[in-house]
Amino acid sequence: MYWVRKGIIGGSCLPYTVDEIKKWKASGVKKVVVLPEEWEIEEAWGSVDYYFSVLEENGLKFIHVPIPDGYPPTLSQFEEIMEWLEGRGNLIHCVGGIGRTGTVLAGYLMVTEGLNANEAIEEVRKYREGAVQTMQQFEFLLSLEGKNNVGKRRLST
Ligand code: 4NP
Repeated sequence: MYWVRKGIIGGSCLPYTVDEIKKWKASGVKKVVVLPEEWEIEEAWGSVDYYFSVLEENGLKFIHVPIPDGYPPTLSQFEEIMEWLEGRGNLIHCVGGIGRTGTVLAGYLMVTEGLNANEAIEEVRKYREGAVQTMQQFEFLLSLEGKNNVGKRRLST
């Protein structure tokens, strides 16, 4: 995993072992936004319910906001995520930790710090090379520019 704002919000690929989840926890993660679709979680964990039970057993809160690989969140999914993030220890994960996660993290920086799309992507790429992968994901971030009421809130620092 990687922090984009240390201790506050970061990103990760999909974990494959309980050990990786314990490492998140040891790094200060408290809340997890799960972006992969069900079938992607099933490939790694056998069942979605089992994966969620492991998160819970390790004291992590989570929400599942499934996004197809290569796509951005819808605006309402993004708003749901922004409303749910809180305090410290927020982690966003998809499968690679690059495309979908990078897009949500860049959107977060746009909303909370007033960066434009290019600045936000550049910022996330300091911590995760190649973050934001597709034209659809880039266009979503462009569409956030100039929207000043998208779940607008700043997490505590
Ligand atoms: P992401 O996209 O989950 O949106 O970051 C992917 C990136 C890399 C891989 C899969 C999905 N991969 O298998 O390497």
